[in-house]
Amino acid sequence: MKEEIREGLKIPAHIAIIMDGNGRWAKKRGMPRTFGHTQGAKVVEQILEDADHMGVKYLTVYAFSTENWSRPQTEVKALMNLLRRYMKTSLAKCAKNNVRVRVIGDKSMLDKDLRESIADLERDTASNTGIGFQIAINYGGRDEIVRAVRRAAARGLLEDPEKIDESVLDDCLDTAGIPDPDLLIRTCGEQRISNFLLWQLAYSEMYFTPKAWPEFDRDELVRAIDAYNHRERRYGGLMDK
Ligand code: IPE
Ligand code: IPE
Ligand code: MG
Repeated sequence: MKEEIREGLKIPAHIAIIMDGNGRWAKKRGMPRTFGHTQGAKVVEQILEDADHMGVKYLTVYAFSTENWSRPQTEVKALMNLLRRYMKTSLAKCAKNNVRVRVIGDKSMLDKDLRESIADLERDTASNTGIGFQIAINYGGRDEIVRAVRRAAARGLLEDPEKIDESVLDDCLDTAGIPDPDLLIRTCGEQRISNFLLWQLAYSEMYFTPKAWPEFDRDELVRAIDAYNHRERRYGGLMDK
């Protein structure tokens, strides 16, 4: 059944996604894990477009974690090549669709040519005014917080302990200037954060689906948004009823 966006549905301003299950999806079909990643990359493009059309303002996807380096070299290489290709081919699409791209994570550990393609894509889409698309590459939530503290120190913001507050750290994170996710989606059944956006997810609503990422589609996104609409966000307070 095709899921419709019903009238009055509140669209989360920021959706974050842990795109999980590419490997299991491929294996189940007798294919190599990398086939799942290739398929997954196509789904990202489609979901970005769908989210944009629905009125989502920011979409953040987890593409490669600081822990994913521990996978076999062949898989790491395939993932890096996929990212390389994505950075090169998505520029025209982002320009056409007014998408603003930001890569979050520690880019210093990536190969030089990939770093350059990322810099090109970020620079060339920086003045776009449509959906903000964050791609997490070599990203770890703990690593991001450590790098934010270092950044704050380099900016001289830690000298007076009395002046250290949440906004100081917020402004030094890779996601500076981007509102926290309203909704986190994780595909393929696992119910954990896996070191994603530890700071930013403090009050996000969580949605878990058994569907693997390569089979995630617009209908699934609508279901997640629908579930989000049934949540009561209290932020530690009480609903006045
Ligand atoms: C998610 O799919 C993509 C990345 C982590 C890069 P996985 O590769 O984790 O697939 P599963 O979870 O092993 O099936
Ligand atoms: C999280 O998925 C990382 C990405 C989606 C990029 P993993 O498959 O790496 O996480 P675990 O190992 O199941 O926690
Ligand atoms: Mg996984």
